[in-house]
Amino acid sequence: MGCQYDDPTHDGANAFTVAMPRLSFGRGILSEVGERCQRYSLRRVALFTDPYLAKGPLVATAMQSLKDAGIEAVVFSDIRVEPCDDTVMRGADFLSTTSSNTAFDGVVSVGGGSVIDTAKGALLIHQQSGHINDYFAPPIGQGKSLQAPVLPHLACPTTSGTGSECTSITVIRVNSLNTKFVIANPYLLPTEAIVDPQCCDSLPANVVASTGFDLCCHALECFTAKAYNQHAKVANPNARQYIQGANPFSDMVAREALGIVNQYLVRGVNDASDKEARSQLMWGATLAGIAFGNCGTHLPHAMSYGITHLMDNITTDGYKIDSPFIPHGISVVVNAPAIFNYTAQATAERHIEGAQCLGADDKGATPTDAGEVLSKRLIQLMKDTSMPNGLSGVGFDSSHVKALAASSIRQSRAIANAPRESNLVDLENMYTDAISYW
Ligand SMILES: [Fe+2]
Repeated sequence: MGCQYDDPTHDGANAFTVAMPRLSFGRGILSEVGERCQRYSLRRVALFTDPYLAKGPLVATAMQSLKDAGIEAVVFSDIRVEPCDDTVMRGADFLSTTSSNTAFDGVVSVGGGSVIDTAKGALLIHQQSGHINDYFAPPIGQGKSLQAPVLPHLACPTTSGTGSECTSITVIRVNSLNTKFVIANPYLLPTEAIVDPQCCDSLPANVVASTGFDLCCHALECFTAKAYNQHAKVANPNARQYIQGANPFSDMVAREALGIVNQYLVRGVNDASDKEARSQLMWGATLAGIAFGNCGTHLPHAMSYGITHLMDNITTDGYKIDSPFIPHGISVVVNAPAIFNYTAQATAERHIEGAQCLGADDKGATPTDAGEVLSKRLIQLMKDTSMPNGLSGVGFDSSHVKALAASSIRQSRAIANAPRESNLVDLENMYTDAISYW
């Protein structure tokens, strides 16, 4: 157990909790989804996916598997990238439909984070009714809580980044505020995660890069997050937040995920035929999902929400979406070098070790160099995978800094999970430092 957890003088949380779904990983296992549903005696499932996957081979494979297992499956594909509250409510309505008086008794999700998160939100409303926005923490919502298990949910990711198949959170855009917020609840954890790296073989390079940096930041944010025993004690162990801070378990999986990023990210992005690299990135995404599902992210994710809130007239090649859109992983990583330069002043040794896992050259580095060592390695990885050059690469300049910070400061729980405190001015300074790196 790392020394940052050995602080007998501190009166913070005295325990951490680990939760994860039943997890299977392997090439070709999407075709087992029907048999896996039989384990829960499912007879009629809703298959959540997006409109593009709905017409493709992955959904065909899942549907055939369900049919072979004698399970009726009905597709719900009215899901867009960056799911919103309206999408979730339509998904919940869909779950309420019956056929010959037979209700759905389970959900299979086949897709990226948008699909899996929509399924989680729809399952919540199906179980408990009301509007999804009621479940966001105040002042966005009423802070309502899911009080009972939802239907069995078998999540099958088709990108190597989200990790949503292994977490008890869902990220949903609130249309009226044009911003994404998080709902976390232990009952949102999928029943099973079925991770088939074959699903990533045909992804375009920039999708692998964007999702790869999402996984990289999940792992790095967990590894550098505030330690769990620096968070407040909980009165009721069942009320322990998923954002519980860094702990020995999340450290272990985050370290492994960072090593995978170091070894395989550039290869997996730049060579679509490199199946080893793409499989490893899928495994890394799974590990990083488990890490952040048991720790919580911090400033890079919190500050990404300002970007997706204010983006305008930006579309990204390789993604089938016409409206303004910056992929989640890009919105996270463009700020990351500037942020880790700031947070390293709080926990230099953690930042140095994270950089080492990512393959940084830290010869002769002292604790005061920690931020620079880690930032430099991230910037090199960004360059090697043709990522945008900071905020300026996605259409922002110094005139946007105040608005970006004002938007992101609302992500108070994630900001509080950072190793170093930050206020509005600190966020403005970090956005300024993130405008351009090279
Ligand atoms: Fe993420």
